[in-house]
Amino acid sequence: MKRRELLKLAGLTAALLTTTAMLAGGAHAQDKKWKIGFSQVTTIEPWRAQFNKDILAEAAKHPEVELIITDGEDKTEKQVADVENLIRQEVDALLVSPKESAGLTGVVQQAIDAKIPVFVLDRNVETNDYTQFVGGDNKLIGRAAGEYAVELLGGKGKAAGNVVEIWGGMGTQPAHDRHDGFHEFTDKEPGIKYLLDQQSGDWKQDQAYNIMATALRNNEKIDLVYGHNDPMAYGAYLAAKDVGREKDIKFIGIDGLPNEGVQLVANGELTATFTYVTPGAEGLRQAIKFLNGEKVEKTITLPTQKITKENAAQILKDNGL
Ligand code: FRU
Repeated sequence: MKRRELLKLAGLTAALLTTTAMLAGGAHAQDKKWKIGFSQVTTIEPWRAQFNKDILAEAAKHPEVELIITDGEDKTEKQVADVENLIRQEVDALLVSPKESAGLTGVVQQAIDAKIPVFVLDRNVETNDYTQFVGGDNKLIGRAAGEYAVELLGGKGKAAGNVVEIWGGMGTQPAHDRHDGFHEFTDKEPGIKYLLDQQSGDWKQDQAYNIMATALRNNEKIDLVYGHNDPMAYGAYLAAKDVGREKDIKFIGIDGLPNEGVQLVANGELTATFTYVTPGAEGLRQAIKFLNGEKVEKTITLPTQKITKENAAQILKDNGL
C-alpha cells in the first residue's frame, strides 16, 4: 500500500474509533461536566463486583459524568494512595467505600479539606465531616438475623444451641453492627452458647472455611453458624460438608445477591440471608444531585429483606435466574 493510502486508512480508523467512543461513552471526557472519583476497596468479592456493576450502570445513564474507579486491592495503603491520587486529579466529587474506618479517615479528611464533596459508601470513617453516607442499616440486619436465629433454635425463651459467629473485618463498622444487632436477641436466651471468641474471617470465604474447620474439630455439636456475609457463611457450610456435618447445622449469612446468597438459600445450602443492597447506583445519583446544586440528606439508608426457602425461588425468578 502507498504511504498516502496508508495515512488515509489510519485517519479513517481513527475517525471510526472516535465515533465508537462517542457512542459508547456519550461524550468525550473533555465535554463532560463532572469528574467523579470512586475509590473501591476491592473487586474480588462478589458483592464488590456487583457494586461496581451497579455504579457503572448508573454512570451509563449520565453522559455528563466521567467516572474514575480505582481498586484498593483490599489493602489500606493502596486505597489511601488511590484517594490521594483522585484528590490530585481534582475530582468534583469523591465516593469512597473504605477497607476500614481508622485507616481511611485521614485521607477522607484531606479530600474534605480540599473542598471536595465526599460520599462515604457502605463502611464508615471516623469523622462526620463528609457530605453524605449511603449504606444499609447493619444493626437492623443483625437484629433480624438474631431474631431468626432464636426462632431456628427453638423460639423466644426456649432457644438452645451452640453458635459459631464468624466476624467480618474487625476494623469495620458493619461487622460490629452486625454483631451487636444479632446479640440483642440471642443474648436474652440462656440456652444459647457461643463457641468462638471474636474470630474474624475478614469477609473471606477461605478464611471462614478454616475457622469453621477448627471449630468443627473442637466441638462435637454445632447448631448454627452466623457469618457476617454470605461468602463466609458459605465457607463454613463447605467446611461442615467436608466432614459430613452440614445437615446438622443452620447457616445464616448477609448480602443476598441473587446470583450468590439467594441461590445458596434456594439450593438449601444457606438457611437464610439478608439483602444488603450495594450503594453503587444510589451513591452516584446522590453525588450528581449534589453537584447540580440540590440538597442531599446526611444519611441514606438502603432497605433489607429476609430471604429463606419461602421466597428464594421467587426472588430468583424476579431476577431472571
Ligand atoms: C464485601 C463485603 C460484603 C459485606 C460488606 C460489608 O467487601 O464484605 O460482603 O456485606 O463488604 O462492608
